[in-house]
Amino acid sequence: IPVDPFDLVIFGATGDLALRKILPGLFHRYAVGQVPDNARIIGVARSDMDETMFRAEVQGRLAEFAPRSVQQADRLAQFLDKITYVRADATGDSGWSALRDVLRDDVVRAFYLSVAPALFGAIAANLHAHGIATPDSRIVVEKPFGRDRESACALNADLRQSFDERQIYRIDHYLGKETVQNLMALRFANSLWEPLWNATHIDHVQITVAESLGVEGRGEYYDHVGAMRDMVQNHLMQLLCLTAMEPPSKFEPNSVRDEKVKVIEALEPVAQTDIVRGQYRARGGEGSYREDAGDPKSRTESFVAMKVNIGNWRWAGTPFYLRTGKKLRGRSSEIAVVFRDPPHMIFPKMEGRRGNALIIRLQPDEGIILRNTIKEPGPGGFRLAEVTLDMTFADALDNQSDPQDAYERLIMDVIRGDQTLFMRGDEVEAAWAWADPIIAGWEEANLTPEAYDAGSSGPEDALMLLHRYGRRWREIV
Ligand code: BG6
Repeated sequence: IPVDPFDLVIFGATGDLALRKILPGLFHRYAVGQVPDNARIIGVARSDMDETMFRAEVQGRLAEFAPRSVQQADRLAQFLDKITYVRADATGDSGWSALRDVLRDDVVRAFYLSVAPALFGAIAANLHAHGIATPDSRIVVEKPFGRDRESACALNADLRQSFDERQIYRIDHYLGKETVQNLMALRFANSLWEPLWNATHIDHVQITVAESLGVEGRGEYYDHVGAMRDMVQNHLMQLLCLTAMEPPSKFEPNSVRDEKVKVIEALEPVAQTDIVRGQYRARGGEGSYREDAGDPKSRTESFVAMKVNIGNWRWAGTPFYLRTGKKLRGRSSEIAVVFRDPPHMIFPKMEGRRGNALIIRLQPDEGIILRNTIKEPGPGGFRLAEVTLDMTFADALDNQSDPQDAYERLIMDVIRGDQTLFMRGDEVEAAWAWADPIIAGWEEANLTPEAYDAGSSGPEDALMLLHRYGRRWREIV
């Protein structure tokens, strides 16, 4: 179904995110017919270029990042036709009236700020001052949304000077991933799971976002941020919230976000002894973090694992173990919900038993896996074995002809005016309020993170963290 006609203004249009994700995503949506013919995209940046040059730049990137769609040559030409370019200075006065003149009054108006957060306030103020922002227009901002609670509050205050909360779309691209949304469908569209979804039946939850890549040319940015700010405070926090939240009364933005905020507010402070920070070292031809970051003494973590307790009625006594890192053995992200053992076992003890688990795989091979115990077939006594019911969504549904990237879906939601998959201001602030003391504890102790081999499963201590509590991580493959 096509969305309404729109003018989408992309600030930072010549930057990496715009050219690698936003524009290819829009083109893909156009190629499948969701972006209507009278939509327009206005690239804004400081670079001295004109429309023709910008279109040529976009065309080159589309060939690289949307290779399937560019095969439709006529669609490509029509898409490029929708793109225009305005040169403007975020903090100065130039370019704003030109931008105002190209915008139409009768279509959805959205501003995508694909720029450093330091510029959010200036751009929002300029949009307001030059009469470009209307009461219905939308503003989209990217992470990092601050580096602590204080800076996040300041960004919120800056944006709210010119826009209402209902106009602000804070992106966490994990919320746009198919399986992350499927987590809500799984929990709230089935009657099977919800009765078991609590501390009485669930032993613990493991949330892993493992990446095989390192910091890849983003070393300078990443070295000031680290895995806690880059991944845990936002992406892993969202996964935790969607796994742990109470059923919202409606599938609408504020019902869902109210429930997520309640989870964040129920998080207990994390003991430093329940956290492992790691940094990858060179191994098997792979460089070290310090080489990638360009700082031979860097103490920034490229890996974090921790035990998190949620202090509420549903989850008291069921820890959530979070783990994320770069240059690990594989790219694999999943949520594993591990159930308690039956209260009384009538069969002989099974060596290596792991118990029932529901594993929600985010990537790769999105799908769900259910681990069950059965009798091992054949003679030789009554032996138990663990087997999995394994379902990838691609296999289960053959109508996967239109896979959507997270960014594509989120941009379309902005045009539709649906904030469900975006973070609300108080939610981001609450997540920082939880993360701040953890980071402050590290900064105070000034410890070097534990080294782990590039291509491994992370630091030894991360394995020990679960071992100490009689549990085991799932393998990263
Ligand atoms: C980004 C982080 O938000 O998410 C990156 O800044 C990380 O460091 C990326 O690599 C992971 O996203 P995905 O979609 O590849 O899992």
